[in-house]
Formats: sequence, structure tokens, C-alpha cells
Amino acid sequence: MKKIFITGCTGYIGSHTCVELLNAGYEIVGLDNFSNSKKEVLDKIKEITGKEIKFYEGNMLDKTILSKIFEENEIGSVIDFAAYKSVGDSVNMPVEYYINNVSSVLTLLSVMKSHNVKSIIFSSTAAVYGDSTIIPVTEECETGKTINPYGTSKLYCEGILKDLYKSDNSWNICIFRYFNLVGAHKSYLIGEEPNGTPANLMPYIAKVALGELPCLNIFGDDYNTPDGTGIRDYIHVVDLAKAHVSAIKKLELDKKGMHIYNLGTGKGYSVLEMVKTFEKVNNVKVNYKIVKRRPGDIAVSYADATKAQNELGWKAELTLEDMCRDSYMFTKSLKNKGVK
Ligand code: WQD
Repeated sequence: MKKIFITGCTGYIGSHTCVELLNAGYEIVGLDNFSNSKKEVLDKIKEITGKEIKFYEGNMLDKTILSKIFEENEIGSVIDFAAYKSVGDSVNMPVEYYINNVSSVLTLLSVMKSHNVKSIIFSSTAAVYGDSTIIPVTEECETGKTINPYGTSKLYCEGILKDLYKSDNSWNICIFRYFNLVGAHKSYLIGEEPNGTPANLMPYIAKVALGELPCLNIFGDDYNTPDGTGIRDYIHVVDLAKAHVSAIKKLELDKKGMHIYNLGTGKGYSVLEMVKTFEKVNNVKVNYKIVKRRPGDIAVSYADATKAQNELGWKAELTLEDMCRDSYMFTKSLKNKGVK
């Protein structure tokens, strides 16, 4: 069986996807530079699955190591997770974001082409829709009105992949637009470990609940939503990882094509709903205060996820309660291990 090459394999989504693919019987070759992850995740993946991945440490911009990987392994498909993904950082360091997120994809595609490997799953984001006027968001909704360099870098990568497919329709491309992923594997050995103070809602709430942060700032309660706070489509990272297994199977069947899918639950929850669910599920108190809106935030975003269900046979199964429990328990496990 040909192997699957996973870039960013020790990252949040990458590690969870490795677990699901190994459990499904696939062999994996992985690459990471640990810029936003830890080497020990490799041991955790083995502890969870009893299997190892063939790992290479290196940077996606290094054509030499990418060529070495394709020369030393028979690769069938690629899943490209390796990218910077902090909205705030991207505003402060746009050039670094475009180099890392866009140039790396160009390097990867060039090496894939030279080794005649043309099946790729690319991790994109709902941010490419910007502030969509159509809710729930479908894959046919307009993209392009991105509001930060992170989202724009992913939009550029989608454009590169579309142009590549137009030039040669023997490519086999799946673009996944992730909504708001949260949660952790039920072993609590892998999960989301943001560097420093979390920018995203769920890890921030978890740290407040554990007393590691004093209070959650809720960025505005004057949006045009039922309780005034922002609404998002939160999806458990394990459900998201399983979608990649379904996509690999589709790529193996189809042999060629260009497919774009929203990966969400199709349900939206507000910030206050998230807080209340988190408190109830974990029997904790989350202190919060309402502050002014965060620049660039949109009011409502949630997916129409029916295309992935119809074409991949995949549907998110885990609930908001599961997400709150698993995020809290993983963050608690980090605290118990003294991980800041
Ligand atoms: C969710 C809601 C905030 C923090 C971003 C990226 C997106 C993806 C996920 C990578 C909003 C509110 C948040 C806080 C709050 N990243 N909030 N207080 O902004 O929807 O999406 O992360 O792929 O591309 O854009 O996620 O978790 O930051 O915010 O009130 O301390 O929680 O206003 O309504 P977001 P988020």
C-alpha cells in the first residue's frame, strides 16, 4: 500500500489525523519543524495507536528534504497541514505568513509534480468566505473578502490549486475549509496546546475554568444575534480528522478531480451558549465580562455541511458537550503535568 505524506504531522489537526489514519490501517510519512508543536507528540501517537509514523524533521520550504521524502518513500497521497494559523500574528507579520503558508505550498506541489504524485488534501479555512451574507455558508458562497493575511494566504493557496487543476486535470485535489475546530482525543494525550495566551475561545475558557487565567473577555454582546454574542460553527477535532480518512478513500476511488468541502457541524453556537455549556458539562465556573468587539470579528458563521455528507459519506457526530468536556480535560491534563 502506498504511504500518505502528512506535513505538520505533530500539530493539532495533523496529530489527530495521524491517529485516525493509522487506526484505519494506513502507513504514514510525516514532516514537521516543531514551530508550533512538540516532538513528544510522536510518542503520544504511538501510545494511542501502537503504531509509528516514519518521521522527518524539517521545513516545508526546504526542497531538498521534500525530495528526499519522495525519493525514499512510495507516496500515494499528501495531506498538507503545515501552516501558521494565528490571525493576530498574521496581521503583525504578513510577509512571514505569505512566505510560510504560500511558498511552502508551491514548493510541495513542485516536488509532488516531479515525482508524479498528484493527490492532495489541502487544509483551508472558513475565513476565505470573509463575512458571508449567506448563512449557513455553502461551498458555492463567494470567497475573497478575507479580513486578515492568514485568511488571505489560504485563499491564495486555493487559487494556486485551482489553477494547477485547470492546467492539468489529472490532479486529484480536495480542499477542506475548516470551521472552528476544538476539543481533544479522548485519551487526552494529544490536543490543542496554543503557545502563550490563547487567542481562540475554547482554550481560553478552559484556562479560566482552571484558574490559569482570571477572566474571559467576551468580545461584544451587541451583535445581531439572539443573545448579542458571536455565533460560530464549532467542530470536534476528532470528527475533523475522520473527514480526512473519508477524503483519502475518495481520492483513491476517484483518481482525479477538484473537490471543495466545508467541514463544520452545520450548527452555530454563541459565545454565551459555549460558556454555559462548558460550565454545565465540567461543573466549573467561568468568570467573564463583556468588553468591546474585537476588530475583524464577524457576527455569525456556520456551515452548510451537506456536501461533505453527500459526497464523502462523512458527518460530524460529536456534540458541543463532547467538545467542552474534551477541551477541559486535555487542558487540565496539561496543568497536572505542569505544562504552561
Ligand atoms: C470565536 C468567537 C469571538 C476569544 C479564528 C480564525 C479562523 C480559525 C479559528 C484557523 C468569536 C469570541 C474569542 C475570546 C471571545 N483559525 N471570543 N473572547 O475568530 O471565529 O476564528 O480561529 O483556522 O480562521 O479566524 O475563532 O475562537 O477566536 O472566536 O469573545 O477571548 O469567540 O469574538 O465570536 P474565530 P475564536
